Amino acid sequence: MNRPTNRNRLGEAYQNSIATSSRCYSSALPIDAIKSSIKSSLLEQASKKDSPFWDEERTNSQTPLNGLNGHSRAVDLEQHLSDVSDDVDAPINKPDPLDEWYLESVSLGSMNGETSGIRLPEGVAPLDPHVNDPFFLSHADVNDISATIGNDLVGTDHPVLNSAARYFFNTEDGKGKGKQVRPVMVMLLSRAMMQMNSHLETSTPQLNHTLKSQRRLAEITEMIHTASLFHDDVIDDADTRRGQPAAHRAFGNKMAILAGDYLLARASIYLARLRNVDVVECMSTTIEHLVRGEVLQIKDSRTGVADMEGYLRKNFYKTASLMANSCKSAALLNHATPEVVDAAYRYGKHVGVAFQLIDDALDFEGSAASLGKPALADLNAGLSTAPVLFAAESHGDVLIPAMARKFKEAGDIDLALQCILEADGVRRTKELAAVHAEMAMEAVVGALEPSPFRDSLVHLASRVVDRSR
Ligand code: FPP
Ligand code: MG
Repeated sequence: MNRPTNRNRLGEAYQNSIATSSRCYSSALPIDAIKSSIKSSLLEQASKKDSPFWDEERTNSQTPLNGLNGHSRAVDLEQHLSDVSDDVDAPINKPDPLDEWYLESVSLGSMNGETSGIRLPEGVAPLDPHVNDPFFLSHADVNDISATIGNDLVGTDHPVLNSAARYFFNTEDGKGKGKQVRPVMVMLLSRAMMQMNSHLETSTPQLNHTLKSQRRLAEITEMIHTASLFHDDVIDDADTRRGQPAAHRAFGNKMAILAGDYLLARASIYLARLRNVDVVECMSTTIEHLVRGEVLQIKDSRTGVADMEGYLRKNFYKTASLMANSCKSAALLNHATPEVVDAAYRYGKHVGVAFQLIDDALDFEGSAASLGKPALADLNAGLSTAPVLFAAESHGDVLIPAMARKFKEAGDIDLALQCILEADGVRRTKELAAVHAEMAMEAVVGALEPSPFRDSLVHLASRVVDRSR
C-alpha cells in the first residue's frame, strides 16, 4: 500500500509564520547604555536580511557567486556548476533563493495528525547492520579521522595552543569526539560515487588519489566544524560540550578563540592542497555562512524576534551549508557529472536542515546527560526555535509577548512549554525534519546507482531524524 510521504502530510499550518517587532533594551549606567545601543544597532544592521553588511540586495552580479553557488532547484546545472569566476573583482554576494527552498518543503499536502515515520524510497534495501549501516560502512574511513587531525594536521610547537587545538581530537579516552556526521556523509558519498567510477575506465591509482583527497576533505570539514564550536561556546558562554568542559572553560576565552582560528587556518592550508579551486570556493563559502548564521542567531537572542522563514534561513547557514558544500565538494573531487554534484549538494542541505531541526526538538526532550549540554538551552538563551514557532501559530496571544521578552519574566519558560505541549510543537518539528530527510533521500536515490553505500546515505538521513542525542 502506498503510504503518503511526510512531505505530503505537512499542512498549510506551516505556512503561517510569526513576527513581532517588540524590542526591549535596558541598562543601568548611561555609558553602558550608550555602548550597548551602539553595539545593538551595529549588530542589528549587520543581521538584517537586506543589510549592506552582506550586500545581498546591491550586488546582482552576472557571476553565480551568491554564497549558495547557484543552487536553486530551477537553475541550469551547467551554469551553476561553473561557480568560479575568472574575474577577480567579481562581487561575492547576490540575492539568494533560500526562501523558495524552505517554503517549498513546508507548503505541500495537508497535516492529518499522524506521527512521522520515514518511508524509504523505492529500491532501497532495508537497514542491515552488516551491509548498509552508515556507521558500519564508514568505520574504516572515518575511525581514525580524529587521530589524524590531532596527531598530524594540527600539531604545533606551542604547548598550550597545541593542547587547545587538539582538545576535541584527543582520542585516548574517546571523549569529545562527537558524532562525526559530516565526515561520515562525505566518505559514504565518496564511496558511492567511487562504485560508479569503477564502471568507467578509471585507473586504480586515480581512484585512490580521489579517495585520499575526499578523506582529507572529510578531515577539513571536521576541523571547520570544531573551530566553529570553539567560537560558539565563547559566544554562548557554554559550560559543557560533548560531556566535558567547553574549550574556553578549559583554556580560557583567548586561547579558545585562537585555537579555533588556528584550526581554521590549518584547514585552509589543507584545503588549498587539494588543488581544486571550486572546492576551495565551496568550503570558504561555508565559513562565511557559519558567520552569517551566528550573527543572525545573536540578533534573534537580543531582540526575541523570530519567524519561521528567518529561523530556517539561519539553520541553513549555521548547519546545513557546511554539510551541503562538503558533499558538493566530495562530488567535485570525484569529477562527477553536474547532476551528481547537484544531488550531493541537495542531500547535504536537506540532511543539514533536518539535523538542526532535530537538535532544536531534542533541546526540549533531552537531558544534560543525553545531550552533553544543558537541556532547554535555547529557551534560556531567549531563542525561539521551531517548536516555539509552531506553537506561536495557535498560541501567539500569550507566546509572542513572552518571545519578545526573551522568556526572561518569571513563568515565561513554563508558559512556553505549556504552549508547545498543547500545540504539539515538538512533534511538528520532527515532522518537518522528516520532510527534509525524505528530500535528501530522493536526491541521492535519483542520482546515484544502487549500492550499499548509496543505501547507507538513505539510512543516515533517516538516522538523523530518529536520533535521541
Ligand atoms: C552551534 O549552534 C554553532 C554553530 C553550528 C556555528 C557557529 C559559528 C560561528 C561561531 C562563526 C565562526 C565560525 C568559524 C568557522 C570559526 P548552537 O549554539 O545553536 O548549538 P549548540 O547548542 O551545539 O551550541
Ligand atoms: Mg552554542
